[in-house]
Amino acid sequence: MKLLIKRGRVIDPAGGIGGVMDVLIEDGKVAIIGSELSDPYAIEINAKGLMVSAGLVDMHVHLREPGQEYKEDITTGTLAAAHGGFTSIAPMPNTTPVTDSPERIQYIRERASQCCGVNVWPIGAVSVGEQGQEETDPKALKEAGAVALSDDGVPVMNADLMRNQLMKAHRQGMVILAHSEDINMVRNYAVNEGRVSRQLGIPGRPGIAEEYMIMRDAMLAEETGTAVHICHISTAKSVDIVRRYKKRGVRITCETCPQYFTLAEDEILTKGTLARVNPPLRTSSDVDAIIKGLQDGTIDAIATDHAPHAAEEKARPLETAPSGMVGLETALAISLTALYHTGRMSLSDILRKMTVNPANILGIPRGRLAVGCAADLVLFDPDERWTIDPEEFYSKGRNTPFGGMQVRGRVKYTIAGGKVIYQDKSN
Ligand code: DOR
Ligand code: ZN
Ligand code: ZN
Repeated sequence: MKLLIKRGRVIDPAGGIGGVMDVLIEDGKVAIIGSELSDPYAIEINAKGLMVSAGLVDMHVHLREPGQEYKEDITTGTLAAAHGGFTSIAPMPNTTPVTDSPERIQYIRERASQCCGVNVWPIGAVSVGEQGQEETDPKALKEAGAVALSDDGVPVMNADLMRNQLMKAHRQGMVILAHSEDINMVRNYAVNEGRVSRQLGIPGRPGIAEEYMIMRDAMLAEETGTAVHICHISTAKSVDIVRRYKKRGVRITCETCPQYFTLAEDEILTKGTLARVNPPLRTSSDVDAIIKGLQDGTIDAIATDHAPHAAEEKARPLETAPSGMVGLETALAISLTALYHTGRMSLSDILRKMTVNPANILGIPRGRLAVGCAADLVLFDPDERWTIDPEEFYSKGRNTPFGGMQVRGRVKYTIAGGKVIYQDKSN
């Protein structure tokens, strides 16, 4: 089947192409990018007024399958991804059981192959059962299709195990994605340690718990000559540490998520458990520093940490409700609204952090829009205004503090492997 995308504003986030052009897709690949293309056998998509970019890549999601399908499964998670413009997603291994063996990696790939066409790139665990005691086998995980390792959800407290696994993963060409928070300092606390935790009279998660773990992992990466990636950075000092270590030539990369460049800890007071997330929302000066880190390139990627939970779970008291928020269906619009429509960042800089940068960190052949590349694309109207309504999500999770927010930027078509896997029918 052939697709011909007519007169869109084509952006290759990796650089190169820009401007109004046509894109011909054939056999799941980008065949021609040029002007005034025509093909009598191709199905045409009128992309006038739309941006045409490489499909978005989310290097950090939770799909909950196997084991917690009441929160999400691979079918609904990939549909949510397509709705949000994502054509590649990397699910974390904190499933039940934990994705710590080749068989479990294969299971996820097999299930994903029956879904809507979004590419699913599984992440294997660093330690068996994410227990921090016994090392997994990075080589076997890689051979089964894992693209990276992480114990996300649980910090790797055991520095010896982390050091060994950094080296073993590195030999396989894999990076470790670190959830950096010292567990003894954060326990199961619900909010940032600071003004809001004092106001509520509850213990909080201090920023230092994140910052020194990032420092530890940066030091380990430096000492071993390996690569490490820091998940969801949230504080000003964290940005500083990554910036400093990058300057020294250490192979450290990091991501943040839309909630950390738009929301501060006060959100807890109005949104309650919907604003509970690990690491927690911080202060407004942290938010400013995260934006600076995005602007100056310290922060390489925007990921969602899409973390669906059931409504009953989020209805529990703040101190016992699970942490996390869904993100796949709102990330592009929130990023455009907060970073592009405010003049803080260019469209191509934002898109780079949602396509080619995360793809490069994971080492997956995606995130580019050029002849010969896989035909994974997103077509979006960067200006269209809409209001976030969790009832319209494809995800089973409705847990977002962004419900009711007016945003700009709407996904119109998502194309994966040359097939339209989502089309906005709203107007
Ligand atoms: O808020 C979070 N939710 N942070 C994590 O690290 C894990 C995630 C989850 O799995 O729900
Ligand atoms: Zn995490
Ligand atoms: Zn996560």
